[in-house]
Amino acid sequence: MRKDFRTKKRDSRPNNSKNKNNSKNERRDNSQDSNRGGSNNSTMSSSTKRSSRNENRNSRSRDSNQSTNNMPKRDDRRGNNRNNNFRRSNNHSKRDGRNTTERDNKIRSRTRHKSSMTPKVELGFNEYRLKGIYSSKSKRGIAFYTKSYDPGNIVYDEKIVSIKNIEYREWNPKKSKLGAAIYNGCSQIGIKPGSTVLYLGCSTGTTCSHVSDIIGEGGFLFGLDVAPRVMREFVFLCEKRKNMAPLLKDAHQPSQYTDVVPKVDVVFQDIAQRDQVDIFIKNCDTFLKENGTGMIAVKARSMDVTRRPNEIFEEVRKVLEEKMAICDSRTLEPYEKDHYFFVVKHKK
Ligand SMILES: C[S@@+](CC[C@H](N)C(=O)[O-])C[C@H]1O[C@@H](n2cnc3c(N)ncnc32)[C@H](O)[C@@H]1O
Repeated sequence: MRKDFRTKKRDSRPNNSKNKNNSKNERRDNSQDSNRGGSNNSTMSSSTKRSSRNENRNSRSRDSNQSTNNMPKRDDRRGNNRNNNFRRSNNHSKRDGRNTTERDNKIRSRTRHKSSMTPKVELGFNEYRLKGIYSSKSKRGIAFYTKSYDPGNIVYDEKIVSIKNIEYREWNPKKSKLGAAIYNGCSQIGIKPGSTVLYLGCSTGTTCSHVSDIIGEGGFLFGLDVAPRVMREFVFLCEKRKNMAPLLKDAHQPSQYTDVVPKVDVVFQDIAQRDQVDIFIKNCDTFLKENGTGMIAVKARSMDVTRRPNEIFEEVRKVLEEKMAICDSRTLEPYEKDHYFFVVKHKK
């Protein structure tokens, strides 16, 4: 019923306004024609145009009457609107003096480009410059992964990405100091497929699990911790991951596990103790192969809470330098507050 009203309204448009429009058009037509320079022909053509325009208008109002009587479907009306919008934008672009199709094509091509740039893990998933470590770039930044040694299981709350039926575990730098060092650009970790590793302070095995992924079937990790509570969980993890073994020992006394642990490619230490540097040097002296790599995550606060962390790190550097060659050192911020990471080798 509303449509009828609208139709009526359109039909009952006062003739004056129509005439006004007509006279306006007439004036515009005349001026256009005079600009074009035609005299008789132009008058002829303007009157012909006028009559044809009136005819068009009548036929349009006839059409609209017909369409309202036929009750157009919702979709039809939408279609009409779309056409109107198109017509409007068309006019606008004409006013701007720009070619519509050219502009439309530009917009279309920009949209296509944008959608093809949508970040997908698969697209940016590459083997990183460190063997056994994978990286992907997304809007959030770079993320590192290791290929799961034990597919179908997660160790902590890490994210899993599956590509062609292979599971990759995202390495969380906030939960792993070795992870934090890698995210901060450390590349001399010495851990690669087939490596043997002595891990001091393994806890429940968060970082060990990623190391286990990297070293794979051919490698082996000895995970040592003094706390029975965390060791219990680590034992369960070692049952699933056959390239790891638990050692419930105190890292102060390497002599207690020399019969179990052979010379290794990597000694890694994450132990929050006052004498952590002494423990590290002792274990490197006992277990690190000649060409092996030693890594230590130093926590300033557990060495001395009263001193500035940077002072402590400089002191640690001097002590390490006396015995070993430092190949890399860097902060673990922003992932770990007041922590520093050192990579060392035996002096030659
Ligand atoms: C910060 S946590 C290690 C976290 C682990 N690296 C990880 O990323 O999942 C420190 C661990 O060192 C262990 N620890 C402390 N003193 C130790 C010692 N003298 N010998 C062996 N382990 C020790 C603690 O029991 C604790 O589990």
